[in-house]
Amino acid sequence: MMEHIRNFCIIAHVDHGKSTLADRLLQLTGTISERDMMNQVLDSMDLEREKGVTIKASAVRMVYTAQDGLDYELNLIDTPGHVDFNYEVSRALAACEGALLIVDATQGIEAQTLANLYLALESDLVIVPVINKIDLPSARPDEVAQELENLMGYPAEEIVRISAKEGINVAQVLELVVNKVPPPKGNASEPLRALIFDSHYDSYKGVIAYVRVNEGEIRSGDSVKLMVTGAVVKPVEIGVFSPGMRPVDALRAGDVGYVATGLKTVAECRVGDTFTNPQRPAAAALPGYRKAKPMVFAGIYPTEGEDYPDLRDALDKLQLNDASLVFEPETSQALNFGFRCGFLGLFHMEIIQERLEREYDLDIVVTAPSVEYEVIMTDGEVLRVDSPAQLPDESLISEIREPWMALQIFSPTDYFGTIMDLISKRRGVFVSQEHPAPNRVQLNFEIPLSELIVDFFDALKSRSRGYASMDYQFLEYRPGNLVKLEVLVGGEAVDALAAIVHKENAYHKGQALVSKLKELIPRQLFDVAIQASSGGRIISRANVKAVRKDVLAKCYGGDITRKKKLLEKQKRGKRRMKMVGSVEIPQDAFMAVLRLE
Ligand code: GTP
Repeated sequence: MMEHIRNFCIIAHVDHGKSTLADRLLQLTGTISERDMMNQVLDSMDLEREKGVTIKASAVRMVYTAQDGLDYELNLIDTPGHVDFNYEVSRALAACEGALLIVDATQGIEAQTLANLYLALESDLVIVPVINKIDLPSARPDEVAQELENLMGYPAEEIVRISAKEGINVAQVLELVVNKVPPPKGNASEPLRALIFDSHYDSYKGVIAYVRVNEGEIRSGDSVKLMVTGAVVKPVEIGVFSPGMRPVDALRAGDVGYVATGLKTVAECRVGDTFTNPQRPAAAALPGYRKAKPMVFAGIYPTEGEDYPDLRDALDKLQLNDASLVFEPETSQALNFGFRCGFLGLFHMEIIQERLEREYDLDIVVTAPSVEYEVIMTDGEVLRVDSPAQLPDESLISEIREPWMALQIFSPTDYFGTIMDLISKRRGVFVSQEHPAPNRVQLNFEIPLSELIVDFFDALKSRSRGYASMDYQFLEYRPGNLVKLEVLVGGEAVDALAAIVHKENAYHKGQALVSKLKELIPRQLFDVAIQASSGGRIISRANVKAVRKDVLAKCYGGDITRKKKLLEKQKRGKRRMKMVGSVEIPQDAFMAVLRLE
């Protein structure tokens, strides 16, 4: 019965306690036994658990007997918490009628609290605020309740205050879900429309699509049609998560469950697409479909050339589960054979890099990330360039355009000055400010994406002692006064070290890069010249002096353990080196462009 269904999600700023609360709700409803309780069931990937960040949305069905004596089916849809995954958040929200907005009582409202709140309001969700972590001595629940009242007009005294960790007041949260979140609407006798709000790849059942049925029904054995791609598939199985996969005969309007499609890659069954019935198709797909667009690009190369096939296999496997990861083969003079990869953002890139290293045990070199430039040639042709080395000769270019982002920074007012300073150093433009809560300011900026992906988040955190938070969205392409900065090592241009920089900064960046590389490139058996050039002119140069390579020469006397240590150290260092011509360059050097102030 639809009146007894509640579809809801939990939204929060990173680390405010979303997963912890989800665990408690699963425990309280007996969906998962104490004994089986693994911390953070909903974050099933190891990496997520370690990073403490939810990457993929998931869903789980709970049965709850409310104070009115009736049983309710509560579908909890978990949403990813990070800025890079905004589109996935919006699809997960579209599958719900309500959202619990969790705010940490020690931190208050932050950038993603607001970003998620706005997304939820766009999806017309009923928002139920919850203040978490009241067990902490530094909790200030009254203030935070007032912030929330100012922000959304929800009476401060009615906001539930909990500790997800200690289990305080958590049962009240379930009552709120039943009483505040409306039951789903939608007619089970209309043609089928089911939103795919997430998916994962299962080696037995193929791609598992997580669906919310809006109208009509899917019966076990029925074929379904993907309305955007037009593909028709015969599901292997349909079912619900409770919390494991449990097959059912039918999913009806209002239900949340899964369709095991048998498809081989998640790219064939995209998040945001709509299932309908091929015999009785709906007139139009559900709104909001968007193909995830990579924004940040980098080269990934195996340290040892022979690992190339393994790297390709690993990327193929990761892509089965991650439709937003794109890659194609790339050759670099410096790094030989590898892949140019596209990511949703810097954070997404970091996750892929770590998974390649840890799950697939690969030694890789990742080049400095780049954005995608629109290059207008003198003959009017428009090129898309996501690798600085590919930028054509200056004389052929009439204009270079780069992606600009809308950026929101949320911070205590104390850090206003230092944040403004950071923004101006990064070519950002101030747009407006708001004060959604006392002593807190939301600053709105426009800024080139290339400036955001270079260490921006770390700089923001360190300038604000960890208090500021941010969110960003793509705005538009704008022309910029941009030039290629090239680096020559031992007289050879190293393509993987090239960068596209603002003309005004080229000289300064060239110098900084050369002195950084001088520190990072180990002494070789011969002198190595490092040069930076732009527009055909050498703008900076330095020499790495030759050295005798025998590391053991330093160990006079016979301290064998010391010798061993040194040899070990040298071996480890080697794994991260790349030979460029006759010069060994460490991984750090390829990332050096990132750390220039
Ligand atoms: P993401 O998955 O990164 O979005 O984080 P999250 O919002 O799911 O936060 P998570 O549940 O992982 O909690 C973050 C940290 O806060 C963990 O170390 C939790 O143990 C801790 N935490 C969560 N709830 C409470 C609480 O009520 N009290 C205290 N003291 N700590 C809590």
